[in-house]
Amino acid sequence: MKKTYAVIGYPVSHSISPAIHQQALNALEIDASYVPFEITCANQAAAFSGLKALGIDGFNITAPYKEAIIPYLDELADSAKLAQAVNTVKKTDTGYVGYNTDGDGFIASLKEDFKALTLETRFLIIGAGGAAKGILEAMKAQGYNNITITNRTLATAENLAELLNCQSMDLETAQANLADFDCIVQTTSVGMDASSEALPIELTGLRADTFVSDLIYNPQETAFLKAAGSNPKQNGLGMLIYQAALAFEIWTGKWPDIDLMYNTANEKGFKKC
Ligand code: ATR
Repeated sequence: MKKTYAVIGYPVSHSISPAIHQQALNALEIDASYVPFEITCANQAAAFSGLKALGIDGFNITAPYKEAIIPYLDELADSAKLAQAVNTVKKTDTGYVGYNTDGDGFIASLKEDFKALTLETRFLIIGAGGAAKGILEAMKAQGYNNITITNRTLATAENLAELLNCQSMDLETAQANLADFDCIVQTTSVGMDASSEALPIELTGLRADTFVSDLIYNPQETAFLKAAGSNPKQNGLGMLIYQAALAFEIWTGKWPDIDLMYNTANEKGFKKC
């Protein structure tokens, strides 16, 4: 029978997931549709139950429902348990299983762009919210142990660092010691407003070979990435592509054509930095 996949969230009209998944499904001649469902908060309970009642084969979840979906699922994979957030759900013989491919998607995109990456790479993570937690859980699980977290609110960084057995540092100290880091990852929402020149941290003192990553992909180049000048760098498009590829693999058992996914994103106006 033809399979049906979906993305649910609010809003989802801007989402490029339907396009990148549908193209990848078509390319592998998998008989399936991938459709967006924009669900208001008032309808979330009915919608989650409805997706299950319809027997939908799998779905992605985007903001603001990554945590709210959890009580509706029958099982959580380790990735979702660690992040306490779900971005991918698969229907199985025993029920609906939640996964989180965001963190592993980030690491896959880092491997693609940061050629000098090793388990010894010294990371500075800026921000200590949900996005930071998601990538940090995956990084720790994959064996990256040299990680310092800095944040506007130091106590939040300290709590996350304690939870994940990382270091924490206030912004001023991190800034003064920027040369100690091989990779800096920007996880805050600072930079989403393309008209703002605000930076979560100044990049003076950055070593020329330090890799700079920003999880934001729209705008294509945040003020933070601009400030990184000619350093090796990436925006969040690779993370978006690889989280989708990992979800696709969970559903279909097949690895999609990554170049095709990038091309589809490019056609929609989203580009790597
Ligand atoms: P998300 O799930 O997208 O990570 P979040 O959990 O609300 O969102 O976390 C937002 C992160 O961005 C936090 O680290 C936050 O810093 P605080 O803990 O100090 O609030 C950071 N952040 C948001 N706006 C910021 C700003 N204007 N300057 C610096 N950091 C900011």
